[in-house]
Amino acid sequence: MKLLIGSDHGGFELKEDLKIFIQELGYEVKDYGTYDVQSCDYPDVAFQVAEDVAKGEGERGILVCGTGIGMSIAANKVKGIRASLCHDTFSARFAREHNDANILTLGGRVVGKGLAREIVRIWLEANFTGERHARRLNKIEEYEKNER
Ligand code: RB5
Repeated sequence: MKLLIGSDHGGFELKEDLKIFIQELGYEVKDYGTYDVQSCDYPDVAFQVAEDVAKGEGERGILVCGTGIGMSIAANKVKGIRASLCHDTFSARFAREHNDANILTLGGRVVGKGLAREIVRIWLEANFTGERHARRLNKIEEYEKNER
C-alpha cells in the first residue's frame, strides 16, 4: 500500500517520526511536506494530499497539524475523502472498520510519538467491514454528488 503523508509546522516533528515508522512497517510513503518548522498553512498540504488520495495516487493518507482538526476540516472538503481525526486506538480501528476512512489526521501537539505510532499501526491494519456501514457511506456519497 502506498501512503501519502503531509503536515504543517505544528505536525512536522510527528510526521517525520511517522514516516520512518510507516516505512519500517513495509509501506511505501510519499511525503508532501512541510519540510521544516517554518510556519505554513495546513490547507495547502491537506488539499494536495486529499486530492491525490481521491485520484488514487496513493491508497490512503495521513495528515498532521497541531491539533489534527484543521487538517481534518480541510481534507473532508475534497470529494471522496473520509478523513478521521483519531487520538485513541479504538477510534482508529473503527474509523476503518465502520467509516472506511481513507485519511487519518493527528495532532502533533496532542499525542506523543508512542501513541501516534500505535494509532497509525491499527488504522493501517484494520479493514472496512462493509454491509450496513457501506449503506451509510453510500448516503454520504449521494449527498456529495448532489451538493449545491
Ligand atoms: C498552527 O498553529 C495550528 O493552528 C495548526 O497546526 C492546526 O492545529 C490547525 O488546526
